[in-house]
Amino acid sequence: MADTILVVDDERDIRLTLGGLLADEGFLVAQASSANEALDRLDESVPALVVLDLWMGGSEEGFSVLSHIQEERPQVPVVVISGHGNVETAVKAVKNGAFDFIEKPLSADKLLLTVQRALDFRRLSEENRVLRRRSFREEKLFVGASASMRALLNTIEMVAPTPASVLITGENGVGKELVAQTIHSLSDRASRPMTELNCAAIPEELVESELFGHEKGAFTGADRRRQGRFDLANHSTLFLDEIGDMSLKTQAKILRILQEQKFERVGGAKTISVDVRIIAASNKDLLVEIERGAFRKDLYYRLNVVPLLVPPLRERREDIPGLSQLFLGACVEANRLEPKSLAPSLVEELRNREWPGNIRELKNTIERLAITTPGPVISSDPEAEGELIRRMTSRPKDGGPAEDWLALPYREAKAEFEKRYFKFQLDAHDGNVTKTAEAINLDRSTIHKKLNELEIKTDGAKALT
Ligand SMILES: Nc1ncnc2c1ncn2[C@@H]1O[C@H](COP(=O)(O)OP(=O)(O)OP(=O)(O)O)[C@@H](O)[C@H]1O
Ligand SMILES: [Mg+2]
Repeated sequence: MADTILVVDDERDIRLTLGGLLADEGFLVAQASSANEALDRLDESVPALVVLDLWMGGSEEGFSVLSHIQEERPQVPVVVISGHGNVETAVKAVKNGAFDFIEKPLSADKLLLTVQRALDFRRLSEENRVLRRRSFREEKLFVGASASMRALLNTIEMVAPTPASVLITGENGVGKELVAQTIHSLSDRASRPMTELNCAAIPEELVESELFGHEKGAFTGADRRRQGRFDLANHSTLFLDEIGDMSLKTQAKILRILQEQKFERVGGAKTISVDVRIIAASNKDLLVEIERGAFRKDLYYRLNVVPLLVPPLRERREDIPGLSQLFLGACVEANRLEPKSLAPSLVEELRNREWPGNIRELKNTIERLAITTPGPVISSDPEAEGELIRRMTSRPKDGGPAEDWLALPYREAKAEFEKRYFKFQLDAHDGNVTKTAEAINLDRSTIHKKLNELEIKTDGAKALT
């Protein structure tokens, strides 16, 4: 897929010359003759690079384009054109984030060299970013010793290089996101990062604006134009997690994108074309959702071009030893612990558990064991043996109160625990709900709801921040 270069200059001749040169080199060329037009072009699609004249229409209006790109699209390199004797301006632009400048009169060789360097630089920094973003564990091998996972990996390898939509289903924590990431990494879009949207994690009324972006003034609070995930995912992959939680209205729009690769921003009339590959995931059975009238059949069939079912861990127990080793090694390394190993009896015990939380639960268990076991061999799981409960119910040595809620019926125990927990956490964060939310990894709205439910009073001013 050829890279698009946006040439911004108010002089028609220069646009034509540059455009011709770049087109000869195999680039696609877009043009703009003013800062405003450049901003429009940038909203329609994201170029690989921008060649920008700073001095247009009698002022340095190129700078507004530069700062827009810095803010909204920092990954797009800008090569600045500077007129005779205007080197200071060009240097200022480089200080403000331009990749480099070329002086007029323009030399074709210098231009092409600079453009090539900028594109190489962008590719490298993007690759770096992708590598950095994946955690150490995600970098590691995809464990798949069992027959069902080997078959799944085969399908992944086959489907990855194609543009086909993929629908991944499976219980919580089975590895759906890892499957999506693996497909993306094995595809020809891998040099750009995969964009994600968890449809269950954001309020329904915001999903559309997240996906499609919005125009300034589209709704209360939309004080500026914003690009959505479809823009960000252009020429790459968009991972729609928990798609079963998407409203029917949004589903209709997604369907259109799948069919036409076109959409409009919320509150906008302009149609924007993109090239986005969709990978969706759900832990709900979408056929049941279709029966309930909560999921569109046509969308299901569009997404389900390649269905991938990730089996629960209890149906592929052969993977448990390998996964356990992987998570142990990663945890030891991340926490700089002494090397540790798992006793065969413990591995056997782990193999036999049901793992309702699947791989995520296994991972958490291994991490907890690695951190709480002092010696080099981890031989049993105290939590599984009721050890933890025993520890928690026994009176602390200092004679303080025992965890008395443990003796209550479940509902009351839960309420009591939650009450103490939220009070403790809020106190620890000066009553600030935002900080608390970040620290305990919950939405602010969930915390507010809980505080209401449990009738916990907060310092109103702080709690609202
Ligand atoms: N085959 C595998 N090999 C190694 N690690 C894995 C494998 N499958 C899953 N994991 C790890 O297990 C954890 C949970 O996986 P992931 O987040 O992909 O599951 P999920 O199905 O998306 O979960 P949820 O339904 O909760 O969103 C992640 O840390 C992931 O890296
Ligand atoms: Mg997930």
